[in-house]
Amino acid sequence: MCRFEINGGKHLCGEIRTQGSKNSVLPIMAATLLTDKECIIHNCPDISDVASALEILDGLGCRTQYANGTAVICAADADNCKIPRVLMKKMRSSVMFLGPMLARKKEAAICRPGGCRLGERPIDIHIDSFKKLGAEIYEDGEFINCRIDKVLSNDITLLYPSVGATENIMLLCAAGNAEVKIINSAREPEIVDLQNFLNKMGADIRGAGTDTIRICPRCKLCGCEYRVMPDRIVAATYGCAVAMCGGNVFLKEAEAEHLRVFVAVLRRLGCDVTTYDDGMRVSSDKKILCIPSLKTLPYPGFPTDIQPVLTSVLTVANGCSKINETIFDSRFGFTDELMRMGADIQKDGCSVLIKGVGSLNGAEVAAADLRGGAALVSAGLAAEGRTIVKGVEYLDRGYENIEAVLSGVGADIRRI
Ligand code: EPU
Repeated sequence: MCRFEINGGKHLCGEIRTQGSKNSVLPIMAATLLTDKECIIHNCPDISDVASALEILDGLGCRTQYANGTAVICAADADNCKIPRVLMKKMRSSVMFLGPMLARKKEAAICRPGGCRLGERPIDIHIDSFKKLGAEIYEDGEFINCRIDKVLSNDITLLYPSVGATENIMLLCAAGNAEVKIINSAREPEIVDLQNFLNKMGADIRGAGTDTIRICPRCKLCGCEYRVMPDRIVAATYGCAVAMCGGNVFLKEAEAEHLRVFVAVLRRLGCDVTTYDDGMRVSSDKKILCIPSLKTLPYPGFPTDIQPVLTSVLTVANGCSKINETIFDSRFGFTDELMRMGADIQKDGCSVLIKGVGSLNGAEVAAADLRGGAALVSAGLAAEGRTIVKGVEYLDRGYENIEAVLSGVGADIRRI
């Protein structure tokens, strides 16, 4: 098992190119099942979740290739409609294959998906919506078996604007001949990216980015060539690392439009942030101000995926901050590890009270999920002395070559 060894205390200066978005590319890869023609996906990040998605597509019978950030996928011979348990458990996004498999083969079998343990993470909204669209679903032990004759026209009102459920419905209906409206849909930029990809394949979907999405009938989709949007969470992670370590970094291709609330938060922390058409510059003198109260919210609110790295920054702020996590019910596991580095954090259900301590000390800590792992790496970069971060495989799920990226702007971090 790999670990990161970090010698903290270095300022970060230079330029980081923002990788392609993990949460965009995974449903886009699933969408390639909707055509027999070849799809070419550029800016596809070199992360283990993409490797897992390619493994799922291979197992379903697709022809796949990946090199230099481009995935080429052709589903012409994709005849399987069951994903093995071991692949389902590798990541949450495995559930995104249900919609396109059903659309393609009229039947599909999956077991409950794995992914970061952030709380219960049910898939009831996906299942209920599919039933309203005509699917018959029954559970057989751990497997969920689905059948559909044809997708029915319907208005689907989501009880919660679930990102995954919104995407799965789009994927089930994009190539169908029904008219479907998703009301109270998720509004995340990744939904817009999926809409753009599907429309480039020939679908007729409108409204992504708002709370109502309309999918119009379209029977046949074709292949296309597409460039995935930049990863807003990765850009924010590196922005937080700069805030915490001090320095000046240009986050090339970071889309400020997708990060409005985060940019406001960085400025509130005392950082200088300048946004440009092709990226944003973050500079920090390491004098971090506290944030008295902040809640995570669905887009365009403050993203839950940035909460762990922000919590890490606030451990060294001047004063007390409170963060309320409203999306996942168990997303503060990493704070126990931060406390081993000298942080002062009190957990109270879905909130944490963080008393800024000025500086952290190096320690041996273990990541137990992707963004929690990023929070520990940021803390290690800013801490005095040597930090060992175990559980690097969690970071590899979503961050492309994180140690090389950080070394490139002056961090002392290596994989051992
Ligand atoms: N939920 C339900 N039932 C459902 C679906 C969701 O109760 O059927 C609940 C979840 O348990 C959670 C909340 O609704 O409490 C939000 O879940 P949502 O479906 O919106 O999230 P997701 O699709 O599972 C995606 C991202 C997450 C990100 C969330 C919220 C992907 C692959 N994952 O998850 O990203 O935190 O949206 O923005 O797109 C990450 O990248 O580290 C990550 C966890």
